Amino acid sequence: MEPIKLKHLLTVEDLSLNEVIGLINRANEFKHHRATFKLNQAVFATNLFFENSTRTHRSFEMAERKLNMEVIQFDTNTSSVNKGETLYDTVLTMCAIGIDIAVIRHSQEEYYKELVDQNGITCSIINGGDGRGQHPTQCLLDLMTIQNEFSHFDGLKIAIVGDIRNSRVARSNAILLNQLGAQISYCGPEIWYDETFNQYGKRENLDDILNQLDVVMLLRVQHERHENKDSFGKEMYHANYGLTMERYKQLNSKCIIMHPAPVNRDSELASECVEAPQSRIVEQMRNGVFMRMAVLEAICLYRGFIV
Ligand code: CP
Repeated sequence: MEPIKLKHLLTVEDLSLNEVIGLINRANEFKHHRATFKLNQAVFATNLFFENSTRTHRSFEMAERKLNMEVIQFDTNTSSVNKGETLYDTVLTMCAIGIDIAVIRHSQEEYYKELVDQNGITCSIINGGDGRGQHPTQCLLDLMTIQNEFSHFDGLKIAIVGDIRNSRVARSNAILLNQLGAQISYCGPEIWYDETFNQYGKRENLDDILNQLDVVMLLRVQHERHENKDSFGKEMYHANYGLTMERYKQLNSKCIIMHPAPVNRDSELASECVEAPQSRIVEQMRNGVFMRMAVLEAICLYRGFIV
């Protein structure tokens, strides 16, 4: 397979299925120390996180350092964002000082439309999450985790559970899993569902399908995006929609538990389920570094930083 080359990574629709499989294969080569690469010049990356992050921010930084990039730090709290600098002006500045690749997380959906191909914006952009929009690298690392478990996607029965309407992870995963032939079921409160997801799967009751699932993909309750923050108490949500220990025991022994994290323990899932044998939540975090290395490398290949 030809090496994957990417100018930007903004949404999962930017990728063909061949590119998705190619990135998974390359991420696995990084994971198993089978990849060789060499930058032919200094490459400068920055991570512009306007929303909080532990995994995405730090695993991108880890990936950049493993690829021998120079990482230029940026902190919204101490930057000129606090003096009213716009996103465009921040990125324009980063490009002017020599940044090649910017990973950006922002609460504004499709924030990248005001940046890509605009005057002075010369860097490649990787979307680290745009509001309720998409989270393409989380999706790719999730697909890597599923592929490594089952070696295929076609016909897998996957439940996406929880706050679907507010989840960029759910949207990116539903789009690509559907294209890859998985059967997607959406479970959780109706008030947190969005009918635009109907095109990729169907709503079902989690208790009706628990023992048929290959993957139960739990979502974080996105309290910060709710207008009525108290729509469910933690205990009520857990009992009605969460992966309780009782539900865990009904899963098929081959079914894996996934969650993009951060997890709300004893809300989306029983705390014991996070480290349970069928959980792949920590493996998702580990895979995130290698998948982000594959994406960064694809951008370096496009830009001629690797020959
Ligand atoms: N899964 C994920 O995006 O986690 P962070 O918000 O910690 O980056």
